[in-house]
Amino acid sequence: CGIVGYVGDKSALDVVLEGLRRLEYRGYDSAGVAVVAEGALTGRKKAGKLANLEKELAENPLPESGLGLGHTRWATHGGPTDANAHPHFDADGKVAVVHNGIIENFAALRHELREAGVELLSETDTEVVAHLIGREFPDCAGDLAEAMRRVCRRLDGAFTLVAVHADVPGVVVGARLNSPLVVGVGAGEAFLCSDVAGFIGHTRDAIELGQGQVVEVRRTGVSITSFDGAPAEGKPFHVDWDVAAAEKGGYDYFMLKEIEEQPRAVADTLLGRIGDGGRLQLDEMRMSESELRSVDKVIVIAAGTAYHAGMIAKYAIEHWTRIPVEVELASEFRYRDPILTRDTLVIAISQSGETADTLMALRHAKEQHARVLAICNTNGATIPREADAVVYTHGGPEIAVASTKAFLTQLIACYLVGLYLAQVRGAKFPDEIQDILIQLAQAPEKVRETLDRMEPVKELGRLLKDAERVLFLGRHVGYPVALEGALKLKELAYVHAEGFAAGELKHGPIALVDQDLPVVVVVPPADRPLLHDKIVSNIQEIRARGARTIVIAEDGDEAVVPFADTLIRVPELPTLLQPLVATVPLQVFACALADAKGLDVDQPRNLAKSVTVE
Ligand code: G6P
Repeated sequence: CGIVGYVGDKSALDVVLEGLRRLEYRGYDSAGVAVVAEGALTGRKKAGKLANLEKELAENPLPESGLGLGHTRWATHGGPTDANAHPHFDADGKVAVVHNGIIENFAALRHELREAGVELLSETDTEVVAHLIGREFPDCAGDLAEAMRRVCRRLDGAFTLVAVHADVPGVVVGARLNSPLVVGVGAGEAFLCSDVAGFIGHTRDAIELGQGQVVEVRRTGVSITSFDGAPAEGKPFHVDWDVAAAEKGGYDYFMLKEIEEQPRAVADTLLGRIGDGGRLQLDEMRMSESELRSVDKVIVIAAGTAYHAGMIAKYAIEHWTRIPVEVELASEFRYRDPILTRDTLVIAISQSGETADTLMALRHAKEQHARVLAICNTNGATIPREADAVVYTHGGPEIAVASTKAFLTQLIACYLVGLYLAQVRGAKFPDEIQDILIQLAQAPEKVRETLDRMEPVKELGRLLKDAERVLFLGRHVGYPVALEGALKLKELAYVHAEGFAAGELKHGPIALVDQDLPVVVVVPPADRPLLHDKIVSNIQEIRARGARTIVIAEDGDEAVVPFADTLIRVPELPTLLQPLVATVPLQVFACALADAKGLDVDQPRNLAKSVTVE
């Protein structure tokens, strides 16, 4: 969910709505706002996207005010209805609360409130907080932060809460436990948001709150305490991107803009990391060479697209370093009692740095004394903060829910980590490593070239807009690329798409193949002839069963030509790096197909960009 709180001289409603627009990628099942004006609290909330709320506000305006809050929701407890939309209010209509996360003991708290005669108007876990704050407040001598602290001490789970009170003008209070909350500090104004995008139009000075902290913001300053009331400190930082980066800049969708930004994102992620003579510089890893030499196992944990980056990392890191690598879905990891030691290096990959599954997996790894390296796109997010070390991807803000540039930059970061490990430990194939470094430096240009060829892919997307199912096949690193292609199509176009290892085709999925099934095949480069030839046979098997073949192959690969109904050419790169170019057409294809269906490319149904619940 996305949260915005504001206090200052501007119109709180304008500031909050602008913030919600930028945070809508965090969830868009409903939206709501509330302001405090002349000692009274008023709010509006509506199911559906922010546009519904804006329509409601046009019909039923709110009074002018410099104090307010708002929310855009990804539904957990209770369906996406008006009643379940945030803010939630206490019985007297004096407290408004917005919330991100899950309050695990909410059933007991609901029961307690019901017993006390409180009527609950929604099915949410959030509403209990509004009532609890309302009931504590009279004993807190007008101190809303104290009421918040008292309530937080009673809550289990993961949450960000932001509240205002009709009787406390000029104050917004926030609390954070395991969900993100950042303070924006402006001149005579302050913001409380789920992430910096919520206030980037107003200030780039921010304070990251720690876990278990309550913050009170006023026009004149910020004060932070722990849930117990002890004075505490946040971590100030300056946001290194500006409002232009968070806007569409002439593109129809953020996703198209972000796909186009990939050459730059890849270049920025490489910048300054390959030194003279191909020596890698990854000082940010904050691990001594002897620590890196003692690593005897790598485990990659991640979710969604980041997981696919992790799968590719396994091929690369094992090959370059000969260290065994496991890749695991973060949501499965800690529940299977994994074997970790001090010599295990856990790599947590996350664009947002806030995904609850990945965060919990990271904590589990730390409890087992493994060392954790984060690969993350979001400065100061929880995952990099809690990790022992971090390699940032410099993709810039990614707003579209479906991940694109973050994926390519995650690949770059994984390659860099693998190559660095290989250098530190003494590579088995030093010449190959040197060659890979040279090729990696050319990656931005190769991605650019790929993008320049995307017109036929867009056409294909439009042509296949009525496809009900699509299969994606690949071998080696082409297999995770196939999975990523299928994920993009599911997410964006609601098409039943599956990715398979091409060799597995004959063990089951081939039964799905008929003339109505488009099959996308990612063909490995000719530098692995065995692999390449095997997949050419697979394409023939599909073709023989009447399916339409869409073949992604490198320039100069003539062997595939006779079997491709549609041939998509990508520039040459070594097999391990090929995902950097082979993924791009799959992103463009999914985007074009979804657009042709008239769907909302940036905000597909039921999804959210940053999922901060397990
Ligand atoms: C959500 C998004 C996916 C993303 C995944 C992991 O499910 O919809 O696009 O890949 O989270 O996100 P992270 O921020 O941890 O990379």
